[in-house]
Amino acid sequence: MNDYKTLIYNAAKTALPSLEPSDVTAADAFCDYCVPCFKFAKLLRKSPAVIATEAATAIRVDGMTVEALNGYLNFTIDRLGFAQNAMSNALGAHKPLAGKTVCIDYSSVNIAKPFHIGHLMTTVIGGALYKIFKAVGANVVGINHLGDWGTQFGGLISAFKRWGSDERLSERGLDELLDLYVRYHNESEKDEALAAEAREWSKKIESGDAYAVGLFEKFKAITLEQAKKVYKRLNIEFDSYLGESFYVNKVADVEKRLSGKSLLTTSEGAEVVALGDDMPPAIIRRSDGASLYIARDLAAAYYRHENYNFDKCLYVVASHQALHFKQLFKVLELMGEPWAGDMVHVSYGMVSVEGMSLSTRRGNVLYLSDVLDAAVEKATAIIAERNPSLKDRNGVAESVGVGAVVFDALYDGRLKDKNFSLADALNFDGETGPYVQYTHARCRSVLAKAGYSAGATDKIDCAQLLDDEAYEVIKLLADFDETVYSAAIKYEPSIVSRRLVKICQAFNRFYNADRIMCGGDAEKARLALTERVADTLKYGLGLVLLDAPERM
Ligand code: ARG
Repeated sequence: MNDYKTLIYNAAKTALPSLEPSDVTAADAFCDYCVPCFKFAKLLRKSPAVIATEAATAIRVDGMTVEALNGYLNFTIDRLGFAQNAMSNALGAHKPLAGKTVCIDYSSVNIAKPFHIGHLMTTVIGGALYKIFKAVGANVVGINHLGDWGTQFGGLISAFKRWGSDERLSERGLDELLDLYVRYHNESEKDEALAAEAREWSKKIESGDAYAVGLFEKFKAITLEQAKKVYKRLNIEFDSYLGESFYVNKVADVEKRLSGKSLLTTSEGAEVVALGDDMPPAIIRRSDGASLYIARDLAAAYYRHENYNFDKCLYVVASHQALHFKQLFKVLELMGEPWAGDMVHVSYGMVSVEGMSLSTRRGNVLYLSDVLDAAVEKATAIIAERNPSLKDRNGVAESVGVGAVVFDALYDGRLKDKNFSLADALNFDGETGPYVQYTHARCRSVLAKAGYSAGATDKIDCAQLLDDEAYEVIKLLADFDETVYSAAIKYEPSIVSRRLVKICQAFNRFYNADRIMCGGDAEKARLALTERVADTLKYGLGLVLLDAPERM
């Protein structure tokens, strides 16, 4: 809570004993903060209107007027005090999660598979949460839990041995692996010897055969090289790339723990953990001895707990894996692990892409890098038209094009299904990344034209910023840190991106209503506010993975 909310809460609590901090809500048309009194009616046996009126006479809050209106207790802040406070706050100083550790498992790509559009959401939601949790002081561990285990890699090696070559592999990289894999699939349907051969290679990888492992490592390197190019464009970082293969030989420990608690049973030759009536059992090991996905995830959970001692362990994974995570968390609960409740499946909806023709699809998948390239190409054309003399046009187009895709992905609540349209994402006047980037650049150009030197904020007269347009901007800046905190604890980067758009809209209203270069104290104050907006936009764009070009 910010200082004002705390003040209000403490004062109102004296009149409304069952008040909770979340009952104090921010800003509507009538006031700056309010407490709806409806929920107290039953307990106090009075109408909300009477409760509000009585409380309003009983309560005093420094720097605010208190009024009752239609069952609401309204608090209106003395604008001057509020503006002074907001303009002197240090952005990003609020660190409520200092000392807490959060593991975030995101992107988690599969080896020898293309980085396709289906990986966009996990990558950008996880990447943004990484930055957002850091911003509020948490110690964050970003984990790319690579899909680098499974029988499919045996098939890939057979295919490579039969039809592939080192030259073609180094030339075509992932495309070659994909083609080999598709060919393996088609031909293994006709030729049983192929599947048997694949199983042999699979076993060789498992037993650590140098040649098989070497080849597999090469496939892995090719996949990661491509993924890292995409991560770089998206401003994404990881602290660990430990994938499923790392946990294979740790599954035995998991089995020991499970049998120690008598949770492991055998069913048709497989080892399973029964999870009650509302869930299928978790299969730990198949009858042929192979461990399953959930077994490796259990091993990973223990590993993360032991190595990072997390307060929260997040899994940013599509909603279609909901059952898997329910089972995973349930097993830990049955094990009696006190941290089982700290595991969170941060789920999200489906993505489809509109306006990209099938000809850009390779095989049946749409590569994320192709979508980014298409967005950059469109951004290049828009910029050439809007600002042909811009310096570093290519760099800006990259920031704007990629940013448009990312911002769009992070603009709606994550559970909503998404139909992505490049034209909408790149609309400079819409609720988009380019709109926020452009407003930021506009602020910077106002400051540059005025010859304003950074940080000249201290000596301004905040009384010049109390008209509705300026004050609206100030209100949206004042609790920006809190907004970031709320995005963290709700695992919802859209809370940040939506606030950025609101700030831009308010700034543009202010810019149109109040002439900035008007001389005197008003000019100084308006420039200081403009700088504050620019700094907040740049900081916020960074949290949702976007660059903030100085010129556009
Ligand atoms: N590689 C998996 C996939 O692409 C996602 C892994 C998610 N993380 C995990 N710990 N299970 O579907």
